[in-house]
Amino acid sequence: MAEPVLEATGLTRHFGGLAANLDVHLSLETGVLHALLGPNGAGKSTCINMLSGDLPPTRGTIRYRGRDITRLTAHQRSRVGIGRSYQRTNIFAQFTALENCRLAAQSRNQRPWRIFTDALRFTDTLERARAALVEAGLGARENVIAGTLSHGEQRQLEIAMVLATDAQVLLLDEPLAGMGSDESAQMVDLLKRLKQSRAILLVEHDMDAVFAVADRITVMVNGVVLESGPPEQIRASREVQEAYLGENAEEEGAHV
Ligand SMILES: Nc1ncnc2c1ncn2[C@@H]1O[C@H](COP(=O)(O)OP(=O)(O)OP(=O)(O)O)[C@@H](O)[C@H]1O
Ligand SMILES: [Mg+2]
Repeated sequence: MAEPVLEATGLTRHFGGLAANLDVHLSLETGVLHALLGPNGAGKSTCINMLSGDLPPTRGTIRYRGRDITRLTAHQRSRVGIGRSYQRTNIFAQFTALENCRLAAQSRNQRPWRIFTDALRFTDTLERARAALVEAGLGARENVIAGTLSHGEQRQLEIAMVLATDAQVLLLDEPLAGMGSDESAQMVDLLKRLKQSRAILLVEHDMDAVFAVADRITVMVNGVVLESGPPEQIRASREVQEAYLGENAEEEGAHV
């Protein structure tokens, strides 16, 4: 098995008396798309928040290429190579797509204000922003005001912003939420391309999309990992069916 890029062990987060994550183990590798599933409130976003550094864990260890990064801030983790997108769209609506990506690319630099005095760095940031837009399929939309992009394009832009930081690990919280079937299909294609050279953790409720792209799946319920393994194992698991997939299939018409 390949060496994990990002590995969480014993990851635990309490909110008062609630264990939103309890002893979660997750391992991400380059070239592998790992889906994190579970019903509403299972603890998926809490898990991403701890991996990204937005939320300190109560207990547990997070390692990036073997190095303990549990105490690094979100900004420091971004510089190390960990990027995340948010469950709710999180862009500067009044700026163009390119400006959004440039701001993201700048945020990776240690002293962003130097950008304004350092022409070389400026060019570098601009190039990185452009490359990220192209990779996310928005190359032709760089000068469009972000708030006027379609919903699907806005979600693509959020991924482009993560790519602009040069992230090697992508933590994506429901990137397909609110998308129509054409937009979802495009996003699935994008995820397939992106996973070739990066490690991806995908939180997603759309089962068709998950089973189309996931190489590995972890199912969480009530903050605890119920099962983790290849898609066939998850699909066949009676426990998972009972706890999540069966109920999800009925409610959302998913084919599992
Ligand atoms: N900042 C917080 N303070 C208190 N409780 C929280 C906080 N964040 C999350 N929780 C609680 O932790 C549990 C897990 O929430 P989380 O947002 O991680 O779930 P989720 O799996 O992402 O759900 P969804 O599918 O609805 O996005 C829930 O019971 C939630 O109410
Ligand atoms: Mg969530």
